[in-house]
Amino acid sequence: MSTQPDSSRQSRITVRSLHEKKQAGEKITCLTAYDASFARVLDQAGVDVVLVGDSLGMVVQGHETTLPVTVEDMLYHSQMVAKGLSHALMIVDMPFLSDTSIEAALENAGLFMKAAGAQMVKLEGGADQVDIVSALVQHGIPVCAHLGLQPQRVHKLGGYRVQGRESAAAEAMLEEARILEQAGADLILLECVPSRLAEMITRALSVPVIGIGAGAACDGQILVLYDILGLSMGRIPRFSHNFLSETGSIEDAVRAYVAAVKSGAFPGPEHVFN
Ligand code: KIV
Repeated sequence: MSTQPDSSRQSRITVRSLHEKKQAGEKITCLTAYDASFARVLDQAGVDVVLVGDSLGMVVQGHETTLPVTVEDMLYHSQMVAKGLSHALMIVDMPFLSDTSIEAALENAGLFMKAAGAQMVKLEGGADQVDIVSALVQHGIPVCAHLGLQPQRVHKLGGYRVQGRESAAAEAMLEEARILEQAGADLILLECVPSRLAEMITRALSVPVIGIGAGAACDGQILVLYDILGLSMGRIPRFSHNFLSETGSIEDAVRAYVAAVKSGAFPGPEHVFN
């Protein structure tokens, strides 16, 4: 693996620089990582945000869902990822039921910040999480709020389905995004949302909106690293793309993803939902 420093690399990405990218109309590039070696490749390829996603429960641990992932698992993987990063902003996912009260959310998010160097935590949930988001933000913990398809609620949702197709659900999601922004969320992530709705939410908010299966109008894109490397178990999700098959090296695949997001070439019409 090449560890040559990339002279085009900028200084450390911060919450502030993400906001500046939105204002400047520059697309934000995000990928997941679960260990130091992959994190280093992403960092050197110029990825802006690395998410230590609880998707590790599926792609690393081999579970059917993200539900079995623990706070200890997230801490272990975050500490490894942090060692590979010097440019990208690191977000750590709050795993299932780790944020059911303000006290629990502060304790677990605090652990990710103090013991792993997280710069932001991501939590799934809408307006029902607003008190938790406010409490985290008041204590200096930046929050990414994950709306749309929330994999931790897969059983309640009845499967991994596109969210916000009906007009009432779409209006509710827009309202929830506004409420979460007012509560202090610094980033909103939309998963599997019709592209028109994602565009409305992106335009309505001043904080950046990152999409996965949410169309090209979002301020940035995120994908699961293993999907872009063709390592997905089962079929690659419709909203993703195997960049390794066109490039030939992991580093080039990540660079191709970054270039495609920055130029607006990814996602294409074949990756979006209506
Ligand atoms: O856990 C994860 O990898 C995620 C992404 C799918 C956004 O939440």
